[in-house]
Amino acid sequence: MTTILNTHQPALSGHYFVTGTDTEIGKTTTTANLVKALAEQGNSVYAIKPVTAGLESSDTGEPFSDDAKRINSFANVHPPIEAIAPICLRTPCSPHIAAKIDGVNLTAEQITAVTQQTLQDYPADTVLIEGAGGWFTPINRTQTLADVAVALNCPVIVVVGVKLGSLNHAMLTLQAVWQSGLEVALVVFNKLAADTPFFDEQVAWLCDYISGEASQYQLVTPQFMSQDFLRC
Ligand SMILES: Nc1ncnc2c1ncn2[C@@H]1O[C@H](COP(=O)(O)OP(=O)(O)OP(=O)(O)O)[C@@H](O)[C@H]1O
Ligand SMILES: [Mg+2]
Repeated sequence: MTTILNTHQPALSGHYFVTGTDTEIGKTTTTANLVKALAEQGNSVYAIKPVTAGLESSDTGEPFSDDAKRINSFANVHPPIEAIAPICLRTPCSPHIAAKIDGVNLTAEQITAVTQQTLQDYPADTVLIEGAGGWFTPINRTQTLADVAVALNCPVIVVVGVKLGSLNHAMLTLQAVWQSGLEVALVVFNKLAADTPFFDEQVAWLCDYISGEASQYQLVTPQFMSQDFLRC
């Protein structure tokens, strides 16, 4: 049976890996707002950014992961920063390049282990794990973040940054997640700009596509995003 559940209040319980159709398409923004919605529903919740490539500087000049901070803007469980941003690389680029620049050996096994350690040390009703870039972001010569998602064995939240061309990106991402054997738990259609052309038509087409491919999805459209969400 095919069921599409449209909701502005997604119900998520457990651990989820958040991926997206590209870099800079709203994974952090979406994750922060999902954390907010889940906290408001009474769940204990926080988010992890296992690999950050590109760091901000604090007032005192300390480098930090801005994504890790933003995704936890509305968290009600507060692990220390080294637990929610365990691997921080200085250069804003693909992690495999950033790791090489920093002289760091990055592997899927290591990223999985540090993430699992945080999940074990800081239990919560829901923990969201933000990837970096897209589904197949490389972490070394042979592995990608998809290997981490598979090793973590989490359902996946796919953020679609809706713009011209995103249907192809969304289909490629969804196909890759399905082929990995992981469940797609939630598809979020993020309207990146108020004047995004043919937003409704693209979402409608993707909803049809998804409903033909899978048994159940929660489809979230941007109405659930609050102004707080867009500010985080
Ligand atoms: N729905 C939206 N409306 C307006 N601005 C948005 C929306 N979604 C995201 N943005 C803006 O787009 C930019 C990129 O968003 P975000 O940082 O969430 O992307 P990302 O996919 O997490 O990027 P990265 O790959 O660097 O982790 C941010 O400046 C964010 O404020
Ligand atoms: Mg991000």
